[in-house]
Amino acid sequence: MFDALTRQPDDPLLALIGLYRKDERPGKVDLGVGVYRDETGHTPIFRAVKAAEKRLLETQDSKSYVGPEGDLVFIDHLWTLVGGDTIDRSHIAGVQTPGGSGALRLAADLIHQMGGKRIWIGLPSWPNHASIFKTAGLEPAGYPFFDVPTQTVLFDTMITALQSAAAGDAVLLHASCHNPTGGVITQAQWMELAAVIAERGLLPLVDLAYQGFGRGLDEDVAGLRHLIGVVPEALVAVSCSKSFGLYRERAGAIFAVTASSSSADTVRSNLAGLARTSYSMPPDHGAAIVRMILSDAELKRDWQAELETMRLRITNIRRALAEGLRDRWQALGAVASQEGMFSLLPLAEADVMRLRNEHGIYMPGSGRINIAGLKTAEVDGVIANFKNL
Ligand SMILES: Cc1ncc(COP(=O)(O)O)c(C=O)c1O
Repeated sequence: MFDALTRQPDDPLLALIGLYRKDERPGKVDLGVGVYRDETGHTPIFRAVKAAEKRLLETQDSKSYVGPEGDLVFIDHLWTLVGGDTIDRSHIAGVQTPGGSGALRLAADLIHQMGGKRIWIGLPSWPNHASIFKTAGLEPAGYPFFDVPTQTVLFDTMITALQSAAAGDAVLLHASCHNPTGGVITQAQWMELAAVIAERGLLPLVDLAYQGFGRGLDEDVAGLRHLIGVVPEALVAVSCSKSFGLYRERAGAIFAVTASSSSADTVRSNLAGLARTSYSMPPDHGAAIVRMILSDAELKRDWQAELETMRLRITNIRRALAEGLRDRWQALGAVASQEGMFSLLPLAEADVMRLRNEHGIYMPGSGRINIAGLKTAEVDGVIANFKNL
């Protein structure tokens, strides 16, 4: 019966990691993988995470089940970080999930369960978005979001696409630090967007995977907070993978903003039911760490300070890259004002291959680069190689 299956394509980013590992050239540079790296090329464990893990080891006295909703204190603290006090808590239904991917999948399952069919996605987007939605039975509808040659967000195209959407359609939005483009939606644009979404009766699903990596913890959710204050209902998928450096621990949450507290109860029970029939309950460790950090003033301060160091490292590399590249490609001056870990360079696949083969600079064929993959000392060399293309 297994003969009925066809082999699925390998994940191109995982294949790239394999090629990079095999490359023995000393000056090789990995701009492909989507994790934060420090100046030594290492993906560190936050100091606050290490401290919380030690405490957890000493104090945890049971490994009994946590339940499909996960750790309710974690949920509460995480929502404070994301939503602040914009919405009455009784209108929020939160469920802990295995990472941001688990949150997106649960959101997609919920939309499907309530009869939703179409979800609008600005392109390009994180490739897993469309795959998750399709697997959950939704129909992704794409519209152009970003023009790579000019490095500009196509905001008017986005508004036109959403104005043609049918009431009840879902719309995926990146809260900030857009993956893969780094393209920024200004606060004024968020206001316009929120008005269109409210007027058309669309359901926003906001993906928040990089809080703190763009302009700051509050700044990165300012648009999202405005939106949820304007629309009657929304979904917010949160990943703790990058913001707490907990990638492999699989910590995240899905939040529904509802029009009433009874609706919140119903949505919560549906999310818990969907979790129960899928993975039953989320892994505890990562969420327990986040709970400890967010409920301890000292750990929280230290976590924020370390996150801010990471953010500043990224913005400094962005500035240096933009400065070096703008006289060859004027549009790449925009790299400095883009935010988060990624930018999408206007490179042909042949250029990407030349950079890889001749100079050991690795990135996927799309031209997406992880800014955090660059050490400061490597920036000038990389710029010189780009200019020689
Ligand atoms: C835009 C975006 N959303 C969601 C995720 C999901 O992250 P995770 O499932 O690792 O928490 C990622 C991870 O790369 C991402 O880039």
